[in-house]
Parts: sequence; structure tokens; C-alpha cells
Amino acid sequence: MPESPPLRRRDLAPLRHLPRSVTRNYLRQARDLPPGAAPRRGIRGFLGATLPAAIAAYARERLGPRHRFADYGPGSGDSGLYRLDGDGNSVRVSLAGDWASGTDEAAAVAAAIGRFHPHFTVHLGDAYYVGDESEIRATFLGERTGPYEPTLWPLGSAGSFALNGNHEMYARGRAYFDVLLPRLGLAAGPPQRASFFCLENAHWRIIALDTAYNSVAWPLLEELPFWPFTASNDLPAAELRWLGHNVRPGADERGIVILTHHSPYRPRGHDCSRIARQLRWHVRRPVLWFFGHEHRLAVYDRHDCGAGLEVWGRNIGHAGMPVEAATPLADPALRLRFTDARRYRNDEGLELGYNGYANLTFTGPTLSIEYRDLNGAGVYREQWRTAGGALEALDPTFSGPSDALEPEHLDRSAAGRGGGAGGTADERIRRGEH
Ligand SMILES: [Fe+2]
Repeated sequence: MPESPPLRRRDLAPLRHLPRSVTRNYLRQARDLPPGAAPRRGIRGFLGATLPAAIAAYARERLGPRHRFADYGPGSGDSGLYRLDGDGNSVRVSLAGDWASGTDEAAAVAAAIGRFHPHFTVHLGDAYYVGDESEIRATFLGERTGPYEPTLWPLGSAGSFALNGNHEMYARGRAYFDVLLPRLGLAAGPPQRASFFCLENAHWRIIALDTAYNSVAWPLLEELPFWPFTASNDLPAAELRWLGHNVRPGADERGIVILTHHSPYRPRGHDCSRIARQLRWHVRRPVLWFFGHEHRLAVYDRHDCGAGLEVWGRNIGHAGMPVEAATPLADPALRLRFTDARRYRNDEGLELGYNGYANLTFTGPTLSIEYRDLNGAGVYREQWRTAGGALEALDPTFSGPSDALEPEHLDRSAAGRGGGAGGTADERIRRGEH
């Protein structure tokens, strides 16, 4: 009996330039054939195989109501507030965004996170292409459901959580709520009940919010790029109620870390996103805000969102998807502190940036953040201290590979005054070179 070839993981190539259109993600899913499969050529291949498969999957997964928005209602016995505890005075938390791609790079990030031995891990959302049950099981839960070798999310010793992403909602959130969340949550406690939650200790609160539940609207009509057909990233009313009644961020002065899938900044313009404007009625002080959705690493300077909400944005949506060199900066008015500008030499010969993730260590009022690449190499580190509701930024430390450029480091170095030969990372990212 002939031996079957070893399983391979999905390449980065079919995931490049993935559109935000729901229908086009179903087409991409239908077109994604494993290496060795007979190619579907030309219009006959498209009409005869790809399109029927996409229509069948769309009809099965996209048509119908969204999954109910899970909440911490009265009688649930769960407030959505959990202890952020680790070893003694120290807690390790790993964050990764847009990780569930099923690629070798996602597997490398998972392995690197595992070496940190985190107490908690949090995924910031997006399982590709549409977050249906087969994809959630294969790209997140390590179960073989198709031709590819599956990948497994690294669990924290005390707990693991997953935020909702727009791609999970492309299949109405059913697999996210019914298949993924029951497998996550506190290690010694109930499974993750809802798509929003708060981890807290005496000094810090990590407030994780669902910005994706409203990211789909009416099937097919949601493809139209104008109101009233476009979807939004609005925070659901039940989530805002939980924030006001259960979390009550204004009731104490602990340091706040926000986690969302979508950005606190508008895609183009000089303003904060609607999510941030919704949040500022509840959070009226400086926050560190980690988000994904855009597949790159970007550490931004302080940005004032009004009403006391000051955002230090950290875009870490670079855990599993191709990091495209031409991904535009969210807002040219934002001041970029750091991005990893190196070329990632991959076995597919693609011109891409590095995948990676963030390790957070909470020690009393101090928070150390290390941004690491898929090999576990540190590329940037920053340290914060919380006191009286304020966030104090301690000196960032450049600690990584010499070709991962960081503007402040370059400015301080004797040779790099003026941003170095290639310009600052901000300039390079605007030129599409990050
Ligand atoms: Fe996304």
C-alpha cells in the first residue's frame, strides 16, 4: 500500500491581499486547493467547480440569522470579570491577532508563545477564510478537517480567550460561539461565555471587547459600499451595558489595557474610530489599546480621542497572515513609534514582512511588553507604570535584530540621527516599504 504524503500547512500565497468582502472570502475559500491538487483552470474551472462550491458554502454558512449575542445576563452566575493572577506578583499574558490562518507562520507563532509559558493567552480575532466550523477546528483547535495539517492555539496555564473577528462573523459567528468559546475560558473555571470580558488584579484591568459582531449586515446587500447597507463595528448595546454596570472603569484608578479586533483609529482621516468614541463615555483616561484586523505590527504614540480617553494604539494583527509591504498606514496623522521593517525570508519566495505577537508581563503596577517575531526574537520592548489612573511610559528599549528599525532608537544613536539611510519607519511605512 503506497504511503500517503505528509500533511502540509496552508501556504501564505493564497491568503495574500485577502479582500474584506464576504462573498469574495467564500470564493477564496473555494479556490484554496492544497498543493498537488488538480488546478482549476480558466472560466470553465471557475464556473464548473469554484463558483458552485462557493455558492454552496455561502448558502450553508452565511444565509440565516447571526448567532445570538452571548451576554452575562442576570442569573448567568457569571459577571465576565475574572482574576488576572499568575505566579506571586507576576502575570504573563500573550496576545496575537489574526492568527488563525493555518499557515506554518501561525504554527511558529504558537510555538514561540508556548515558550513564554503564559498564564493567559488571548487571540484578537479572525479565523480564515470565514470562520466556519471546519476552519475553526482546523486553524484553531488542531483538528484535521481538510487537506491541511491543522494548527493549535497555545493555551495559557490559567486561561485562554478569543475575541470575535469579522471573518468569524462571515459564517454568522456560529462556530465562534458554539465550537470555539466552549473550548476556552479559565483553566479552572467555566468556559468562555461571551465575546467580551475583563481580566483584573489590584493594579490592572484588561478589558476585551467585541467590535466584530456588527461587522456583517444583510447577505449580499452588505457588499454595497454605502449606507444603509454597510456593516459597522459598533459595540453592541449589551456590551456597553456590561461595561457600565459590571466593569465601571471610572470607579477606580487601575491601569487599563483595551483589547479589540478593530482599530481605535479611523481608516482614513484624523479622528478616532466610532468604537473609540463609544468607549470614551465609559473610559475617561489613558489606555494601552491592542488591536488586530490590519496585518502588521505598529506601535503608535499617544492619540487624544476626547473626553479624557487617550489611546496608545498597538496594532498586532500580524500573527498569521501575510504581512504585506504595501499595507497603508491607518492614519497618516498618527505618530508611529515602531514597526518591524525587516523582510521575512520565507520558503515561498514572497516579499513579505515578519509575523509576530506580543508578550505582556504584569508585575505590581509595572507592565513590560515585548514584541517578538515568529521565531521568538524580540524586536521592541516598552515598559509602563500605572499610578492614580495615569499611565507612565518608561523608556522604550530597542532589543531586537539590528535590521528591525525603530525611530526613537535611530534618533538616539550616534549614527542614526535623522532616521538612518532608509528614513524613519513612519516614512517607510508611508512609502509602502514596511
Ligand atoms: Fe479582521
